[in-house]
Amino acid sequence: MDKLRIRGGNKLCGTIHISGSKNAALPLICASLLTQDRVTLTNIPELSDIHSMNLLLEQLGTNIESRTEVVDGKPSKIYSYLTTKPSSLQAPYDYVRKMRASYYVLGPLLAREHYVELSLPGGCAIGSRPIDIHLSALEKMGAQIEIRNGYVIAQAPKGLTGAHHIFNIASVGATCNILMAATLAQGTTIIENAAMEPEIGNLAKMLISMGAKISGIDTPILTIEGVKELHGSIYKVISDRIEAGSYAVAAAITRGKIELLNALPNTLKTPIRILREMGVKIMEQEHSLIVDAEGCRLEGKDIMTDYYPGFPTDLQAQFLALMLTSEGASMITETIFENRFMHVPELMRMGANINVHKHASAIVRGVKKLYGAQVMATDLRASFALVLAGLVAEGETIINRIYHLDRGYEKLEEKLRGVGADIIRIKNDDLE
Ligand code: EPZ
Repeated sequence: MDKLRIRGGNKLCGTIHISGSKNAALPLICASLLTQDRVTLTNIPELSDIHSMNLLLEQLGTNIESRTEVVDGKPSKIYSYLTTKPSSLQAPYDYVRKMRASYYVLGPLLAREHYVELSLPGGCAIGSRPIDIHLSALEKMGAQIEIRNGYVIAQAPKGLTGAHHIFNIASVGATCNILMAATLAQGTTIIENAAMEPEIGNLAKMLISMGAKISGIDTPILTIEGVKELHGSIYKVISDRIEAGSYAVAAAITRGKIELLNALPNTLKTPIRILREMGVKIMEQEHSLIVDAEGCRLEGKDIMTDYYPGFPTDLQAQFLALMLTSEGASMITETIFENRFMHVPELMRMGANINVHKHASAIVRGVKKLYGAQVMATDLRASFALVLAGLVAEGETIINRIYHLDRGYEKLEEKLRGVGADIIRIKNDDLE
């Protein structure tokens, strides 16, 4: 398994180009299943999760073509998806086990083909993560659902019908799935307490470009008038706010200055506010962000994760790492997932001073120094927190199990090296 070796201490300065969003691209790819026409998606990041989703769609009978074009001076991947008629209606265990977001095929296939089998996703490193909201909403729309041999078997022989949902949790996944399903349902669907993450707005606008009728985008109430069929489209994946936020922290933690090209400051309002309150200077432009921490003394801040537009759980680990190099104590509270402090024991091996209380909150006290160590990546964002700690630690940090990072950070080492980090990927056991 590949490892990363980081030699800490370099101030990061320069420019980083932010990629397309993984969490936006995954449902957009599945939305292509809603039509028999070709759907072309631009600004798709080159990530292992995208590769896994493409393999799943190919298994369902989708024809996928890809090419690279230069956009804004950078090579950008374009994929086009054509599912004339699905050849399979099953998302098998091996695909879902590798990537939970495989559940995004549920809504589109049930809506279009009236049948789908999905290996039921289990828990993962960050929590139990059930999909009960997705399933009960589909049942309310007329689906018959049973769980057999580890699979969700959903069928709606007469098609789905619109329904009024009031979600008890503003779930990102359930909002996307029901939004997609509702586009081809008979009648009107209303989703109250819908998640408002920008990735959902991106999906809703793509569905509209395919002929769907949706109102209430970027609000907690989405209304969808079902249509008979959707058509093809060419559509752009929005830029990745979590990648941008992660590199903003890389600038702050190394007390450097990085311009994040293609970042969307509008989607990062809460993290930007926290960084400013800590003492980081931030200049916002419509499509870029300059994060300047040169010469700054940063002050610790309390953070509580929340649904969008609150502080994103996907930036919790990275900000926790930043608090380690800030003055005073900070309390970090995780409210979205029940087990999202797996980075803490690894950071403690590097000299961090953190007390976790009941998996729900962590008191982080700034330390004079972090020290390089062998650490293990546990999930995607936790892994980036270890990278951040490695960038400022004295000596050498080796991060094991970096396949987590490959799921969500495109060209990570290249981007960090481009702004001055001493970071290399070591293949297999080259280290020993
Ligand atoms: C999405 O996961 C993201 N994944 C996650 O990104 C992100 O952390 C999360 O939203 C929250 O922002 C993708 O977009 C592919 P949820 P999702 O449904 O959709 C509970 C990353 O690092 N819940 O909003 O699975 C659930 O257990 C990641 O890129 C139910 O109880 O998140 C959680 O506690 C990891 N029943 C909360 O709701 C359900 O049916 C929010 O989950 C659905 C969710």
